Amino acid sequence: MESIYLVGFMGSGKSTIGKQLAKKLNLLYIDMDEQIEQTTKKQIKTIFAEEGEQAFRDIEHKILTETPKQGYVVSTGGGIIERKENRQWLLNKQVVYLNTSWDTIKNRLAHDQSRPIWQDQSKDKQLLMQSRDPKYREIAKIIVNTDQRSIDQIVAEINLHLHK
Ligand code: S3P
Repeated sequence: MESIYLVGFMGSGKSTIGKQLAKKLNLLYIDMDEQIEQTTKKQIKTIFAEEGEQAFRDIEHKILTETPKQGYVVSTGGGIIERKENRQWLLNKQVVYLNTSWDTIKNRLAHDQSRPIWQDQSKDKQLLMQSRDPKYREIAKIIVNTDQRSIDQIVAEINLHLHK
C-alpha cells in the first residue's frame, strides 16, 4: 500500500493517530520529528537554537523525500507545508489533514516546552495556524476534523476514505 502522510498543526494528534493508523493497517510507522532527532543526534529545539529554522527546514525536506513510498504511515512536522517543494512532493501522495480547532491546540500545548515555534513569543500562533490551513488543504486527499472525537473514531474515518 502507498505510504500515508499525516499533516496538520502542532498538537493536532499526528503522532498519536499515526501510530494507531499504522497498527490498524498493518503498516510501519515513521515520526519525522523523531527521525530528524535520530539522524542529527540533536533535539529539535537545539537545531533551532544553534542553526536556525531554515537549517531545520533543509533537514526536514531531506528526511521527507527519503521516506519510503510504500508501506508506511508518516507523521510529518506541523511546518512541513511551509516549503513549496514539500507541498509539491506531497501533492501526489496519500495525505491526510488532521484539522483541529485553535482552542483544542491551545489546551493540548499549554505546558509544552519542546516546540521552538510554539515557544517563540514573537510569533502569533493562532495567525500562523490560520495561514497554514490553506497549505494543508492544498495537498490533502482526506481532511478529518479531530475535535471531540476519539482516536478510534478518527482512525476509522481515515481508513474509510483511503485508497487501498
Ligand atoms: C514545527 C512543528 C514540530 C516540529 C518543529 C517545527 C512547526 O512538529 O517539526 O518544532 O513549524 O509547526 P509537530 O507538528 O509534530 O509538533
